[in-house]
Amino acid sequence: MIKKETMKIISINVIAKETVEMVLQNEYISENAAPGQFLHISVSGCTLRRPLSIAAVNRTAMTVTILFKIIGKGTKRLSEYVEGETVDVLGPAGNGFPLKNLSKKDKVLLIGGGIGVPPLYFLGCTLKELGYDVQAVIGFQSKDFVFYEERFKKLGETIVVTNDGSYGEKGFVTDMVDKITSFDRYYSCGPAPMLKAVTNTFQDKEGYLSFEERMGCGIGACYACIIPTNDGSNYKKICQDGPVFRAEEVSL
Ligand code: FES
Repeated sequence: MIKKETMKIISINVIAKETVEMVLQNEYISENAAPGQFLHISVSGCTLRRPLSIAAVNRTAMTVTILFKIIGKGTKRLSEYVEGETVDVLGPAGNGFPLKNLSKKDKVLLIGGGIGVPPLYFLGCTLKELGYDVQAVIGFQSKDFVFYEERFKKLGETIVVTNDGSYGEKGFVTDMVDKITSFDRYYSCGPAPMLKAVTNTFQDKEGYLSFEERMGCGIGACYACIIPTNDGSNYKKICQDGPVFRAEEVSL
């Protein structure tokens, strides 16, 4: 259940170009957060809260890690917070990645792009703990933006892709089809064009997409996040109905 909580900043670090990792402590959120869910953070001086996906949870230390890219006033201000300060958070919010009907012999592929990579790390850790075979393809603009490569490699076979070829493989995540070993289900998060390409490439596979990058207000008020659906309901709101949907459920 989503609750309003105060979270203490344990650490804040720039881990790649324009990319900040923040570790926050709170017992309730760390106990209840599931992969694919997000925190709805109030930033001082900003009217609207910022929806930011959860990248990792440490239930022993009662911490939750979030990553964000500095792209506007709110995220710039958030990047200026320091250790020991607190933030007002609504969370854990949204419907996370479903794990049901996954059998132990199933192989899972995680496909992430840019700031869509963090929620897949939390998912990968959870799947690994549960004993699943995980592989990942993570894509970034260029070398300067790459993060969490080593962490993903500890979970399973991982391919790093950069659009300009300055690190890892050159191209887009969907260009790696020939390098990916067989899998049964995929989970993906990233920019909408990437999710569309992923859906088209893996039409014959069961897939789940997280659209967390496309949220605005995060509370159903701005309609910035609506997405057309294939189920006759015309559209869904990513912030309230998602951010995770079955690949065939939405029209990209
Ligand atoms: Fe504003 Fe969903 S983000 S309505």
